[in-house]
Amino acid sequence: MASAEKLIEVKHLKKFFPLSGGVFRKVLGYVRAVDDVTFDIYKGETLGLVGESGCGKTTTGRTILRLLPATAGEILFEGEDVTKMSRGDLLRLRRNMSIVFQDPMASLDPRLTIKNAVGEPLLVNGIARGHRLRNMVLELLEKVGLNEDHLNRFPHEFSGGQRQRVCIARALALRPKFIVMDEPTSSTDVSVQAQTLNLMKDLQEEFDLTYLFISHNLSVVKHMSDRVAVMYLGKIVELTPGDIFDDAMHPYSAALVSAVPVPNPALRGRAEILAGEVPSPINPPSGCRFHPRCRFATEHCKDEIPELRDMGNGHMVACHYAGELDLKHKEELLVDTGSMAEV
Ligand SMILES: Nc1ncnc2c1ncn2[C@@H]1O[C@H](COP(=O)(O)OP(=O)(O)OP(=O)(O)O)[C@@H](O)[C@H]1O
Ligand code: SF4
Ligand SMILES: [Mg+2]
Repeated sequence: MASAEKLIEVKHLKKFFPLSGGVFRKVLGYVRAVDDVTFDIYKGETLGLVGESGCGKTTTGRTILRLLPATAGEILFEGEDVTKMSRGDLLRLRRNMSIVFQDPMASLDPRLTIKNAVGEPLLVNGIARGHRLRNMVLELLEKVGLNEDHLNRFPHEFSGGQRQRVCIARALALRPKFIVMDEPTSSTDVSVQAQTLNLMKDLQEEFDLTYLFISHNLSVVKHMSDRVAVMYLGKIVELTPGDIFDDAMHPYSAALVSAVPVPNPALRGRAEILAGEVPSPINPPSGCRFHPRCRFATEHCKDEIPELRDMGNGHMVACHYAGELDLKHKEELLVDTGSMAEV
């Protein structure tokens, strides 16, 4: 259950990647992957982070864990700034935070048995070895629905869903408080996906975990999350504790919602609504980054970056005209710009 206590506070976080070229590897510009993002994650909650490919979801998750250094801003974990931690503090932090990646095959060493893969964090941190280690690994495997027979097998001997369970067991090994789930089920099919999502919910309850759940699939994010944050080109444009399918207030979120395929045949065809590419984060549009695609854009939108404003009950929206727009006619939300790559 989510509490009122903050586990993580992200304040004005920026992560830029330098773009270099030429013989002297001169810095030619920056990819503004995460550009001034502020949000909190409460103890015990799942905060969903959704948005199109390249909008900065993974970079946000990895920067919070300090797997990537932040360019600017603060990341407080239980009040301590992760960006300023010493090596010793960082080792302690690593035990409290972990990550599950999209592709379990790429995140597991093919030469390690499951026992060694799951046991590695326990061994490296001097928590257990020998028989005790084996028992701890077995206990973790059982928590994710695997058993003793799996201990000495290699990753290639498992199905995609089972491999993801191994990764979850490994992420749980040090009993972290916080886990970034980065597209944890997008490489498995729908029936396996549902099982893995339910397992993650059960484990959250059992181990009192807090999740940042990243996905480009709005339905999955909604199913998993207490609150949903929508990201567009390095910025959070909306964050709602409500049902994003019913209460989207940002034109981009509304367009994302309308792009989710629905069983009703009368509404078919709308899934095309977000076709085309997102503009580049190297040279993002001025003002509101969504303005080239937004049907409601005005001159003001081109000039001024909209702040994330609380529209009531913690529902935050970054749009100059939030609450004033008619977002019902979803098929008309986006301007027809042809190929978005040209925007
Ligand atoms: N190491 C890197 N060096 C340079 N640019 C990077 C690096 N990592 C990410 N980027 C760029 O930063 C932007 C955000 O990438 P990120 O992987 O965070 O997006 P994402 O929302 O997770 O996308 P996806 O849904 O495809 O996983 C993209 O433009 C990406 O190309
Ligand atoms: S600020 Fe302007 S361009 Fe941006 S979403 Fe709102 S109306 Fe559209
Ligand atoms: Mg990603």
